[in-house]
Amino acid sequence: MLVSATEMLKKAHDGHYAVPAFNINNLEWTKSILKACEEMKSPVILGVSEGAAKYMCGFKNVADMVKNVHDAMVITVPVALHLDHGTYDGAKACIEAGFTSVMFDGSHYPIAENIEKSKEIIAYAHAKGISVECEVGGIGGTEDGVTSMGEVADPEECRLINDLGVDFLAAGIGNIHGVYPENWAGLNFEVLAKIQEVTNGRPLVLHGGSGIPKDQIKKAISLGVSKINVNTELQLEFAKATRQYIEEGKDRQGKGYDPRKLLAPGCEAIVNKCKAMIQDFGSDNKA
Ligand code: 13P
Repeated sequence: MLVSATEMLKKAHDGHYAVPAFNINNLEWTKSILKACEEMKSPVILGVSEGAAKYMCGFKNVADMVKNVHDAMVITVPVALHLDHGTYDGAKACIEAGFTSVMFDGSHYPIAENIEKSKEIIAYAHAKGISVECEVGGIGGTEDGVTSMGEVADPEECRLINDLGVDFLAAGIGNIHGVYPENWAGLNFEVLAKIQEVTNGRPLVLHGGSGIPKDQIKKAISLGVSKINVNTELQLEFAKATRQYIEEGKDRQGKGYDPRKLLAPGCEAIVNKCKAMIQDFGSDNKA
C-alpha cells in the first residue's frame, strides 16, 4: 500500500536525514527507483510532474501503474506517490486519482492568493489523509517550461504558509532545477536557518537536488531539509548509459534492439545513482 509522506518526513527530520523524492517518467523509472530503495531499505517519494503525468496518459494511469508495480515487486519500504509542482486543479485531481501526497505550488501567485489556495488544498487533502507540500518564493532553472533564477524566499512568507498546517515546505534558497551553472553561488544557508527557525521545525524541501555538492547536502539536512527532489541526475545517467550501449553497437548484436535489452543499461544506471544518492542523504536502512 502507498502511504502519505507525513510520517516518513517527520522521522527523517527527527533523525537528521533526508528522504529522496525521485521523479518518475515511465515504467522503467518506476521499477528502477523502487528496486534501489527496496535494496537500500530506504523510504521513498515518487514525484510526478503534471507534464510527466500527461506523458504517462494521466494521473489515474500513473496511480494505477505505481500501485501495481509496487505490489508486483513486493515492495516493503514506505512509498509515497506525490504530485510535483502541482496546480490548484492538478492537486485536486491527483487526490481523487489515488495519489498519497501532493504539492500545491502557488509560489508564482501574490502571497495572499498563495495562502488562500494553499489553505484550501491542505483542507481538501487532509480530509483524505493525504500529505501536502506548499512552496514559497521562486526556485531557479527551468522545469516544465517554467523558468526562475535561483530565487531566495522571504522567511516571513514561509512562516505564513507554515502556520496553515502544511506538512512540509519548499522555499527557494538559491537552488536551481536542472544542471547547475558553473558560476552557481551555492545554497544560502543563512536564509535556510532563518526559515527553519520561523517554521518551528517543519520538515523543509530542497528542490533541484541534482548536482549539489555533498557537503552542501549534508549542511542543508542539518538545518532542517528532510526531502530532496531529484530528476535531472537520473535522466543524465539513463541517457549516458543508453548512448554508450548504442555507440558500442550492442543494439545491432543479436536481439540487442529489443527494448528490454536496449533500456537495461539505462535502468541499471538509475538503480546505481539512486543508491549513491540514498547514501548521501542518509536514508539507507531507515525504512
Ligand atoms: P532537478 O531536475 O534539478 O533534480 O530538480 C528536481 C526537482 O526539484 C523536482 O521538483
